[in-house]
Amino acid sequence: MAMDKFVINGGNRLKGDVTVGGSKNSALPILAAALLAEGQTVLRNVPDLEDIVAMIDLLRSLGCESRREGADVFVEVRNETHSHAEYDRVRKMRASVCVLGPLLAKRKSARVAMPGGCAIGSRPVDLHIRGLRLLGANIELDSGDMVATAARLRGAEIFLGGPFGSTVLGTDNVMMAATLAEGTTVIECAACEPEVEDLACFLNKMGAKITGAGTPRITIQGVEKLAGCDHTVIPDRIEAGTFMMAAAITNGEIAVHNVRLDHMLAVVDRLREVGVSVERRNGSVLVSSARHLEPTDVTTQTYPGFPTDMQAQLMSLLCLADGNSAITEKIFPDRFMHVAELLRMGCDIRKEGPTAIVKGVKKLIGAPVMASDLRASAALVIAGLVAKGQTTVNRVYHIDRGYEDIEVKLRGLGADIQRVGE
Ligand code: EPZ
Repeated sequence: MAMDKFVINGGNRLKGDVTVGGSKNSALPILAAALLAEGQTVLRNVPDLEDIVAMIDLLRSLGCESRREGADVFVEVRNETHSHAEYDRVRKMRASVCVLGPLLAKRKSARVAMPGGCAIGSRPVDLHIRGLRLLGANIELDSGDMVATAARLRGAEIFLGGPFGSTVLGTDNVMMAATLAEGTTVIECAACEPEVEDLACFLNKMGAKITGAGTPRITIQGVEKLAGCDHTVIPDRIEAGTFMMAAAITNGEIAVHNVRLDHMLAVVDRLREVGVSVERRNGSVLVSSARHLEPTDVTTQTYPGFPTDMQAQLMSLLCLADGNSAITEKIFPDRFMHVAELLRMGCDIRKEGPTAIVKGVKKLIGAPVMASDLRASAALVIAGLVAKGQTTVNRVYHIDRGYEDIEVKLRGLGADIQRVGE
């Protein structure tokens, strides 16, 4: 619910088993890609999250029928006359912008609101627009909306790199649009995230001709049409990493199931640097940590570098390391909303431009804190699990956007955490 909060009594060591859900950041663009299909699309292992509900509502507003049965989501395009993704929807969930490419390719026109900023910084879409224009789209701005038209998209060679490197949703938008363009498209400096690769796998099942997804150069040969298909979404590497950090900070020992460790090697590398044991055990991953945590330095980078979506969670862990750590945020330089809240819990963190210097302290002290963005909120929960006394995390709707029943899963691991309605 809107103003729920979590009440956490710190000190319990996490033990036991947790199963990772499907990837939010894979399911969202894949749901948008369903707009390209003739016939029904079936998606499996789709997490039940606020952001997924928002995307399904958006698809319905764009003429799709959709229903959920457990972890399976069914989507079918019924009516293609309404192609406006309204501002109110887009501002609440930025990933809505990735309906632009599919609508352009399939319906030749679209009106999608510019997303505006959010807690982690300004979220420009200039690279999305540039890439789609290079495919032959005409995109004008009209009262905050991108008004896009394209009689026929034509394949092009597109360099999609920006000042921060590649763009995940920008790559998705251009790749989806290129599937129905005339001729061949090459995306240079494409995002290499596993979620981009999963989207390409889904599109190829629909009949697209994409090679190179997961590498910086993706080649798309345009086809006439795409058909609905049946696809299982990859596990959520950020949810998995979040539980690993939670186990580590409590000196616990957990087994994480349904995780693709090959999608998380940069995260595993930092965890091992800090002194956390991470071991594969017949299809699952055992994570445990001794009492002593080493400091380390980390810089967030595009995949396969250390993910910006794990930066806040690692910061919580490093607040208790024996020494100083430096955390540099190269993707969203303002993504430090969690620092002020962690200071309220006794952490010692100093900002130096895009770097946070974290001095290890002996203990954290429970306090009322405010969630801001999705991953910062997860970092506050992680800190609350080990802090002395009670921590109240307010505005947990931020967490519900990206973590399914996180408090239930943490309680299953022995954490003392309750959701309390306002
Ligand atoms: C995706 O956002 C993820 N969201 C984000 O996860 C994640 O933090 C981000 O990728 C980086 O990994 C989804 O997949 C739904 P970007 P996206 O375009 O695609 C700049 C979460 O917690 N940029 O890769 O919007 C941008 O400002 C969310 O689940 C431009 O300059 O991120 C940023 O500095 C938060 N121009 C950098 O590129 C553009 O046109 C990377 O952004 C687009 C982006």
